[in-house]
Order: sequence, then structure tokens, then C-alpha cells
Amino acid sequence: ATVSLDTIASLAKRRGFVFPGSEIYGGLANTWDFGPLGAEVKRNIKNAWWEFFIQRRDDMVGLDGGILLHPRVWEASGHVEEFHDPLVDCRNCKSRFRADTLLEERLKISVEGLSLEDMSRAIQEHQLACPVCGRRDWTPVRQFNLMFRTFIGPVEEQSTRVYLRPETAQAIFVDFKQVLQTSRVKIPFGVGQIGKAFRNEITPGNFIFRLLEFEQMEIEYFIRPESWPETFEHWLAEMASFLNWIGLGADRIRMREHGPEELSHYSRRTVDFEYSFPFGWKELCGLAYRTDYDLRRHQEFSGEDLTYFDQERNERFIPHVVEPTMGVERLFLALLVDAYHEEPAVDVNGKPYTRVVLRFHPRIAPYKAAVLPLMRKPELVERARDVAAMLRQHFMVDYDETQSIGRRYRRQDEIGTPYCITIDYETLEDRAVTIRDRDTMEQVRVPISRLVEELGQRLAA
Ligand code: GAP
Repeated sequence: ATVSLDTIASLAKRRGFVFPGSEIYGGLANTWDFGPLGAEVKRNIKNAWWEFFIQRRDDMVGLDGGILLHPRVWEASGHVEEFHDPLVDCRNCKSRFRADTLLEERLKISVEGLSLEDMSRAIQEHQLACPVCGRRDWTPVRQFNLMFRTFIGPVEEQSTRVYLRPETAQAIFVDFKQVLQTSRVKIPFGVGQIGKAFRNEITPGNFIFRLLEFEQMEIEYFIRPESWPETFEHWLAEMASFLNWIGLGADRIRMREHGPEELSHYSRRTVDFEYSFPFGWKELCGLAYRTDYDLRRHQEFSGEDLTYFDQERNERFIPHVVEPTMGVERLFLALLVDAYHEEPAVDVNGKPYTRVVLRFHPRIAPYKAAVLPLMRKPELVERARDVAAMLRQHFMVDYDETQSIGRRYRRQDEIGTPYCITIDYETLEDRAVTIRDRDTMEQVRVPISRLVEELGQRLAA
């Protein structure tokens, strides 16, 4: 059975994965902070992505572009004109909603192909009640741009307006020429980037699923125009194998092709990877064929030559682009849901209990191991601290000497630590420790001198 979102959110808060943002000030709606364990998981997701897609390939380079880009970038990219959601307000209580979501979720009407006028009419005709106050007095549906705006310098006027980037992709197009000039890349090649993106979403929610501020991991893969179909297939397979590599269960993932009405303004083909979240199948990440739309538009708007010269064919052209994109927090949520297991178990005293365990892949687990002295006795504590210090040279390691050993195992299960290492009185004699496996709960004895190697092998297996 699928775990509820409330269960996930409360575990995440209780154990320090995700905190509600600005909580001591009463909170700031729909903002979240990532606690000590959440910060580790996010780092692990990003490092895994970088290793898989950039480090391990010879056709990829990285980039770290700015959040603030020239405002013309967003005119060229089409975001000023096209990046909006249809919005409707309740005149009575002033609540604001996405009209398409209201129609789809409340009235079960497909919004495909509907104009703003069509949506306004559908809301009137079906006498849709406001989900907050129950009244039926709506404004007409209008477009609402999702980009956050701010100003550079002290004067808040049109000429100083800038946007917080709504996708990381654009810096890659803007810097395309400089990447070509400074690295030895040849088509086909890709540029990858990880960074914050911001969207003034009208209906954020579902815990960390739809955020105002999130991190994207994006690749723009530059190709000859005719090779897009096979490149697209290649990246579909690569994305699937990455999801598997970080431990996401294939049975909860499916691919969904976008219909023509649904395609973004820049895309000719898009496939979403959907995940079976507690609130239904929803987009996890996606792959889009952006054609030469972005480079062509930036060439037009900037006046710079953004063509590529193919020396072998003695040919100049604007490269086309296939774009695999992923959101860090969405992957995080899927990994949490996927990892969550409840099972009947018996504690060290023979008492039955419900064991909650996050079966994170070791690549994702915040701590790879926890070092636990059996009891809080100086001689055990001293040895345990030494072992923890030794392991910290290699892995993220937790150390815990509080409470009973049973409770400490439970805590480590709940935060997904793959291995617990217990130091007991025998350790003082035989210089060996017990390794407890999170998933099998098997315990084996290993000499301290072999511990780093043993853990390394197990974590890499
Ligand atoms: N450059 C293409 C692009 O931005 P997108 O489908 O709008 O495409 C890519 O976003 C990914 O970013 C999504 O698949 C999702 O993982 C993540 N994402 C998008 N909007 C988000 C939001 N409001 N909160 C959290 N993650 C989001």
C-alpha cells in the first residue's frame, strides 16, 4: 500500500529532512528548508546526477550560470510571452486558483484546447463553487506570468527589472558560444547544469512536489537536426537508467507522451517520466526536443552568430537540442516515498513493533553508517569515537550514544542508514565490531582493521 503524504511529511520533519520554512515567524506558506539529513540527500542526488551524466561521459561538460540573466534573455526564450498559467479569482473571498486545475479536478473537464474565454464560460456554466468560501462569483480567467520579478539597484522601474530564472536551461544557450570557444567539444555534445529555479506558482502544494523555489538538473544536448529521433531515444534510456541507478523502483515509474496541445512553446516532442506519488501519477522529470528554437531566438535577439561549424562536412548550422531535465526536490520526494516501508518486527527484548525503515539506495542515504557504542561507558565510547573518526575520512557517518541500542537502531532505520556498527565489550578484546545490515537485519563481526574496506565493498555492491 502506498504511504500517505502526511506520514512522509511528518517523518521528514521529525527526523530533520524537511522543515516548514521560517517556522519561528509563523511560517511562510509553501516554503521549505532542508534539514541536516535533507541537505545530505539533496547533495547525494546532485552528486549522483553529476557523476552519471557529466563525469562518466566524454561528450559532456558542466556550467554554473547565473540566476539573474539579462531581461532580454527571457524575451528571446519566449518566457515573457508564453510562460503563464490561467488564473481565476473568487470575487468574494479573494482566493486565487489555477483555472485549468479547477476545471480538471473539480469538474472533471479536460482543458485541452480550451481558450481563456472557454474556461471562463465552463466555470460559469457549471456553477463552480469556490473551494474556500463556497460562493460562485468568479473573475474572468486571465493569464498570470510565472516568473518572479525583482529590480537591480535602488530604482524600481521597467529599465531595472530582472527576473529570477524559471529554468536553468537558458544560461546554457546564452553561453553556448563561449563553451564552444573554450572547450574542445564537438557535436554531438551536451552542457549540464544544476541550480536554483523560481516559479511564482499559483497552486504550490503536495508537500515539496510543487515549489516556488527549487533546484533543476538540466542538460542541453546539441546535435545535428536530423539525428534528433535517435538522440531522443538515447536520452530516454539514459534517464531511465539513472532513476534505476539511484534506486527508484521501475514499477512506480511510467513514461507519458505529451499531446500536441500540451507541448511547451519551445518543444516539438516531450515525454514525461511520471511517478506514482501518494496523490497520483505526476511528472517526475522530462525529456524535450527543443529543436533549434532557443539558439535561433538568441541569435535573432542578440545579433550574435550562434551557428556551429562542422569541419568534417564543411557546413555551418544552428544546432538542435534535446533536453533531459529533472527537479531535485521532486526526485527527493519520490525517493522518500519509494524508500518508505513499514513491517512487523521484534525488538532486542523480543517485543513486537512496527519497524519503519527507509530503504534508500546507499548512494542516496544521508548517512552510510552509524557508529553505536553498546552502552555509554567511557571505554566503549572512546573506542566508538575512534572508529567513527576513522570512517569519517571515507563516508558520511552518524555517531549516537544516547538511549537504548534498540531505540538507536530504530532511529537509524527510520533515516535510512544502511549499516549500524556496534562497539561492545568484546570489541575491547578482539578489536572487531558488529555490522548490522538495515535491510536484512543480519549481523556480522568484522575486524576494525578491515572495516573501511568491508563497508566500501558493501556500499558499492
Ligand atoms: N527546462 C525545461 C523545464 O524547465 P519543466 O518541465 O518546466 O521543464 C523541469 O521543469 C523539471 O523541474 C520538472 O520535471 C520537475 O522535476 C521540476 N519542476 C518544475 N517545476 C517545479 C516546481 N514548481 N517545483 C518543484 N519542481 C519543479
